[in-house]
Amino acid sequence: MNIVALVGSIRKESYNMQIAKIMQERYKDKMNIKIADIRSLPHFDQDEELDPPSVVKDFKQEILSADGIIIVTPEYNWSISGVLKNALDWASRGKRVFMKKPVMPLGASSGMVGTLRAQTHLRQILSAPGIQANVLSPGGNEVLINFVQQKIEENGQLDEDTLTFLDSVIEKFVDLVKSN
Ligand SMILES: Cc1cc2nc3c(=O)[nH]c(=O)nc-3n(C[C@H](O)[C@H](O)[C@H](O)COP(=O)(O)O)c2cc1C
Repeated sequence: MNIVALVGSIRKESYNMQIAKIMQERYKDKMNIKIADIRSLPHFDQDEELDPPSVVKDFKQEILSADGIIIVTPEYNWSISGVLKNALDWASRGKRVFMKKPVMPLGASSGMVGTLRAQTHLRQILSAPGIQANVLSPGGNEVLINFVQQKIEENGQLDEDTLTFLDSVIEKFVDLVKSN
């Protein structure tokens, strides 16, 4: 199973990136997770949407070829980050590469509600006409990692409770991808 992960934070020590890497390693027997380079995408420009720069074409092809997408989002001012929105905007125009694609959203923040507002907003974006992804249903599947600075341990691993929950949601995501 080939999965592409989009990580909405590009800072070096990003917790969300650390979580994507933990997942890459932990679920390697179930899926191959490739983390997309969304930092290199230029700002979305509608003048270029039908013939975008090659880095955008490559990114869109990666999404199109993937069996499913994992989106690990931080919360920036009650929403997703600009860098993630930019990637989604490119993906939504010209060839709509997210159409019916299975998506698992999750995220980590330093605040109390653990990206709830960002993920709610993300789900809304993923239902837009240019995207129409097949998003894992929220019931029982919302991975909202709050106070993340306390949950990533010194060895770089997530705490056991979070990992156990993540394991259960990944199983549902695998089912979604297989049934797609
Ligand atoms: C521009 C900006 C806005 C933020 N807004 C929120 C917010 O609305 N809610 C929240 O819980 N945390 C917010 N934070 C704190 C982030 O949750 C925290 O910086 C987190 O570590 C970011 O994810 P990262 O570690 O993957 O970079 C914000 C951080 C930044 C830089």
